[in-house]
Amino acid sequence: MTLPFALARRFVAGETLADALPAVDRLLDDGLYVTLDLLGEYVDDPARAAAFSDEYVALVETLAAHRDVRGLNPHAASISIKLSMIGQVIDEDACEAHLRRLLDRAREADMFVRLDMEGTDITQSTLDLFERVYPDYPDHVGTVLQAYLHRTAADVARMIELNARVRLCKGAYKEPPALAYQDMPTIRWHYRQHARRLLTEGRLPGIATHDDELIAAVKQIAADHGVARDAFEFQMLYGLRPETQRQIVREGYAMRVYVPYGTEWQPYFTRRLRERKENVFFVLKALVKG
Ligand code: FDA
Repeated sequence: MTLPFALARRFVAGETLADALPAVDRLLDDGLYVTLDLLGEYVDDPARAAAFSDEYVALVETLAAHRDVRGLNPHAASISIKLSMIGQVIDEDACEAHLRRLLDRAREADMFVRLDMEGTDITQSTLDLFERVYPDYPDHVGTVLQAYLHRTAADVARMIELNARVRLCKGAYKEPPALAYQDMPTIRWHYRQHARRLLTEGRLPGIATHDDELIAAVKQIAADHGVARDAFEFQMLYGLRPETQRQIVREGYAMRVYVPYGTEWQPYFTRRLRERKENVFFVLKALVKG
């Protein structure tokens, strides 16, 4: 079934980059940083993977030009990509070639590329691909670790050893108890442990959460350990807690908003609805308002 885009509008900035740029500008105007994500995942056709790879290169070029016209520093705008969109589940070597082409362009434009983390069927593959490219682009590529996974303490240690930039999130996919913690108090407990290590030993970690309890804990850890407010950043998703995003900036922290756009928004949109009943409410409210 094809759903109308109007349903997703609160969480997805547009179906094209041109549609999304006004939303990006509003965020930048308010002192927020952005990371743009062209939506799409688990592509199983090499031609489509190549087309998405081209579209990502064009995104880097357009976004870098936009950033430069606005006179912003390179840190203000980055991109996020799911490797499964550029052929990871078809052929890892071809995926690496697409990724390197993107990273070459990103390095030229001084733009950071975050490799999103997906389901556990490709966690190891994503980290392997990351380690294959990282030595050639140490300032322009980083990865994501998910606090709900049992393996993450070891992955945090490895990323610290590499001095690689990590975004820490809880994890958005449905995973079995053998691999992932299932209950919120346990996931939060692990999130805090990983955040502490990344803040005190890591390099510019991204603290991705809308959870007040974790945001307060991270502020406290930073204060207790003398971690400067510009030595890490909070990150939230487009359309979620916009007032809180701005409040955090007013407090002197960096806040990066993850801005998804594109026609393939259904899996992303479904994850947001599954996460919180309030998100379903927002969609229903928007429908009633028309
Ligand atoms: P969660 O939904 O668990 O809610 C916890 C509490 O936070 C709530 O009880 C409430 O108190 C508060 N809260 C949350 N949302 C609120 C709202 N809208 N209004 C008011 N209060 C609210 N996942 C993944 O697997 N791979 C990835 O690469 C990424 N990337 C990523 C980037 C960014 C920038 C973010 C913010 C998130 C991701 N995620 C992700 C998603 C992540 O793993 C997770 O699924 C969601 O962030 C939901 O978890 P939270 O900790 O944000 O709050």
